[in-house]
Amino acid sequence: MCGIVGYIGKNQAAPILLDGLAKLEYRGYDSAGIAVYNNGKIEFAKSKGRLQVLSDKIHGGDDVTGTMGIGHTRWATHGEPSDTNAHPHLSSSGRFAVVHNGIIENYITLKKKLQDKGFEFVSQTDTEVIAHLFEYYYQGDIIDAVIKVINRVEGSYALGVLCSDYPDSFVAVRKASPMIVGLGDNEQFIASDVAAILKHTRDIYYLEDNEIVVLKADGVKIYNTDKEEVEKEVSKVTWDIDAAEKGGYEHFMMKEIEEQPTAIRNTVSPRIQNGKIVLDSVSLTTEDIKNIRKIYIVACGSAYHVGVVAKYIIEKMCRIPVETQLASEFRYCDPIVGSEDLVIAISQSGETADTLAALKEAKNHGSRILSIVNVEGSAIAKASDDVIYTWAGPEIAVATTKAYSTQLSVVYLIATYMADKLGLLTSGEYKKLVDDIQRLPDMVESVLKDKDYIQYLASKFYNCHSIFFIGRNLDYAVALEGSLKLKEISYIHSEAYAAGELKHGTISLIEDGTLVIALATGSELFDKTVSNVKEVKARGAVVMGVTTEKEDMRDVADHIISLPAVSEQLMPSLTVIPLQLFSYYVASNKGCDIDKPKNLAKSVTVE
Ligand code: F6R
Repeated sequence: MCGIVGYIGKNQAAPILLDGLAKLEYRGYDSAGIAVYNNGKIEFAKSKGRLQVLSDKIHGGDDVTGTMGIGHTRWATHGEPSDTNAHPHLSSSGRFAVVHNGIIENYITLKKKLQDKGFEFVSQTDTEVIAHLFEYYYQGDIIDAVIKVINRVEGSYALGVLCSDYPDSFVAVRKASPMIVGLGDNEQFIASDVAAILKHTRDIYYLEDNEIVVLKADGVKIYNTDKEEVEKEVSKVTWDIDAAEKGGYEHFMMKEIEEQPTAIRNTVSPRIQNGKIVLDSVSLTTEDIKNIRKIYIVACGSAYHVGVVAKYIIEKMCRIPVETQLASEFRYCDPIVGSEDLVIAISQSGETADTLAALKEAKNHGSRILSIVNVEGSAIAKASDDVIYTWAGPEIAVATTKAYSTQLSVVYLIATYMADKLGLLTSGEYKKLVDDIQRLPDMVESVLKDKDYIQYLASKFYNCHSIFFIGRNLDYAVALEGSLKLKEISYIHSEAYAAGELKHGTISLIEDGTLVIALATGSELFDKTVSNVKEVKARGAVVMGVTTEKEDMRDVADHIISLPAVSEQLMPSLTVIPLQLFSYYVASNKGCDIDKPKNLAKSVTVE
């Protein structure tokens, strides 16, 4: 979702801003713009469409001189994608230029008030009120103006603000929307995330809500809303720039699919020491675990699908009731959650607005929050009592793969850790699970070797209008993810169904030639799924079986994808791989924009 970059230093700002915005393209956007301070005034350029359109318009930035500026990629929320609605937005006098990520919830009231005072609006955006508010409140001191503006606006914001009265500094502030500050050598940056500025610096400040940053070429100062200077610790980014580049792959998605063995290893290895699971960052004692009444899992999209896997596994292994809920539903359903409950929030970005709100709702009810997050220092991580980082490295493709897989690995670690503390595993069972968790990276690697066969299957089926995924239990949980992946990037309609539920309605959609992908890895329910396959076959379906138990499935399915066997609880990590690959190759055959599917954003920071 919207991306922000800001720069001040000795170099021409516009090319640096365009380059930084290119690194944020993965977040999803529909228009882009920059504003640069030049000789006492603010110059700007904005365009609907791809960043390249903007870049062409200003000749890669060459046309815009000046060494301080702000840039933005917009993902439309208020008002259609257009040149006018693109950011930056300028105040009427042109003194202020503003870029904004987030939503101003009271913008209608503010707009009305400003219009009554004679301010004229040119766009349909909520952001424009901020530019005019700056003009309204400004009395010669930019920090005072920031404080007044943020006192008036409700909602979420990361703001970068240029003021033509300040030739050698600009300001930024955030609340509930991501923004970091990059500290360079005589050049400073703001950005929505590290990838945008990593080639310039690894020294970062993570901002708290409503900390106001003043950036000058030779340094950065941070103030609170009482205008007192705040001391902050500099964080070092440890991952490499290569991790945020394609490195020879045609798409980030394939690179990230292939990175899964390494990513899972990075997640798991440091947390298994001498055959024991060690969760340093989790402060739950054995007593706390014994006293958990219920576990709620809140998340969105693929992270929610990890939560569905977690429900099956934790309930089976720990005998604690688990309710997995979509964060956007949980936050508004007046949940029956309290201090005896553990709430697990799962999020790659750590910034998803609904997950953050659900977590806060649970916190208000006194629950303890454990989060599984990829991005360090993100809002969800900060708002949690305990955090287990997935350490998957930056995920750039909009459709998640390695974040999903590392979240699954954390779920296995938590379930096994808790089941052990609850005395529900024999030492042999514990050892087998821990060994298998450690073997997962190699096993995922071996499944990835089947790429060519999956590519062949995709070339046969990429013209389908509708594809069904079925499975039971954990296979159903993975079916949800396989179906979402396919829909997101190939735009083919798809449904995931619990195999036993098909005959209660959806089977009416099966006709001659409909592709059904049947997942059957659980031994207990294998025969039941094979029966469901027979039912769809009898109605003309073409079936692709994904299974460890080949023989019976081979008799009924048209195509078989074989998986190696591992402890059944861990099978989702293997089952999902062919589904990711299938979606990728189907989308590739259809010529889709795989890394940036239409209408989707990587980090969903609005409701
Ligand atoms: C799907 C996908 C999304 C995210 C969802 C939650 O491929 O990536 O469904 O899983 O938007 O995002 P995070 O994990 O950042 O909270």
